[in-house]
Order: sequence, then structure tokens, then C-alpha cells
Amino acid sequence: MKNVYLRPLSLADSDRTWKWHNDPALYDRLVTPFRFVSRLSEEEWLRKKMAYSQSEMQLAICLRENDAHIGNIHLRHIDWVSHNAETGIFIGEEAHRGRGYGEQAMRLMLLHSFKDLGLQRIWLTVFDDNPAAIRSYEKCGFTVEGKLRKHALKHGRLKDLLYMAVNIDDPGAAWVRGEGA
Ligand SMILES: CC(C)(COP(=O)(O)OP(=O)(O)OC[C@H]1O[C@@H](n2cnc3c(N)ncnc32)[C@H](O)[C@@H]1OP(=O)(O)O)[C@@H](O)C(=O)NCCC(=O)NCCS
Repeated sequence: MKNVYLRPLSLADSDRTWKWHNDPALYDRLVTPFRFVSRLSEEEWLRKKMAYSQSEMQLAICLRENDAHIGNIHLRHIDWVSHNAETGIFIGEEAHRGRGYGEQAMRLMLLHSFKDLGLQRIWLTVFDDNPAAIRSYEKCGFTVEGKLRKHALKHGRLKDLLYMAVNIDDPGAAWVRGEGA
């Protein structure tokens, strides 16, 4: 894509990933619960995510102009029988959000999923009060397929999640198939 590329994580990323893992404001938007992460467990986490896995991958989102690492994107629960996987994404700093970088990174992940890995369906969950994320996913072809009611705890309150997905043969994935749109 025009402004961003994806690459594997490395141990040299640990300062940034540690900061993001300890940012409660970022976790207000993420479905994963916030918990404090020590430097030691950050490095353990990174080593685990860098190791080869058949069921998940964690990638860095970087800016083409200066190679800055601005966020992470993952696939997990890769199902090689039904050819689907869950994705998740964040852009670490507010200053980098709302510039289309999230859309570009997700498009790169969808291309990798559909064209390199042979997956046919990518799904995610998002809080229903996160319009920027929902809009960013819709721009890539995701549609809302359902609601998980009172599913995830944030600040002591169980919140609703939207379940969104894109299938390779959806109209919204015409761009993946090279059919324009
Ligand atoms: C979600 C996230 C990855 C999206 O990436 P991004 O680069 O910020 O998003 P994009 O620029 O691709 O798209 C955002 C869209 O939402 C729109 N938007 C922003 N705020 C909005 C609002 N309050 N209501 C409606 N639309 C809104 C923008 O206008 C843009 O749409 P447009 O291109 O049609 O104008 C990024 O914002 C992020 O990391 N946020 C914090 C963590 C997070 O929410 N992660 C997702 C958890 S499921």
C-alpha cells in the first residue's frame, strides 16, 4: 500500500510494544483486557510471537517514509480446515490514527491472508462504540454479521461487541480479487 508496510516483529521493537501494552487508554478500545506488563514478560511475549506458529502471526505496521513502527496487526485462531482466521489491529499513537494507515495495514493483511495463505474468511470483534475502527474495517470490505451482547468487561462494565467478517467472494472484497470497487 501507499504509506505502510508489514514486517515481522523483532526484539528491537520491545520499547514500543512494552509502552503500548501498558497504555490503559489504548486498551479502552481493544477487546483484550488491560493488565500491567513487566519488561521481562514483554520480552517473553515478543519471543513467543516471533516464534513460528501454524495458528497465529503478529506483525509490525511501519511507515514507508521513515520505517517508523506505528502499530501491530495479527492473525490468530487460523483454521486450516475451514480456511478462516481472526484479525486484530492497533495504531499505537493518536497522532498516527485517522490517516488511513489502519485501512492500508488491514488491506495488506487481507491480501496476505487470501493470496499467500489461502484463507477465505477473516473475522474480528470490535466494541460497538468504536466508530473509527468500524469505519476503517468497512472500508476494507468487512460487514457486521452480529452482536455479542455484554461480552467483554471494561472499567467494570460488560460491553457489547460487533462481530465483523469479510469473505473472499464478498462484493466488498472485489478489490482483493482485482475486480475494482
Ligand atoms: C482502529 C484503528 C486501527 C483504525 O486505523 P486508522 O488509521 O485510525 O483508521 P482509518 O484512517 O483507516 O479510518 C478511520 C475512519 O473512521 C472515520 N472516523 C473517525 N472517527 C469517527 C467517528 N467518531 N465516527 C465515525 N467515523 C469516524 C474516519 O473519518 C475514517 O473514515 P474515512 O476514511 O471514510 O474518512 C486505529 O484508529 C486504532 O488503532 N485505534 C485505537 C485502537 C483500536 O481501536 N483498535 C481496534 C480495536 S477493534
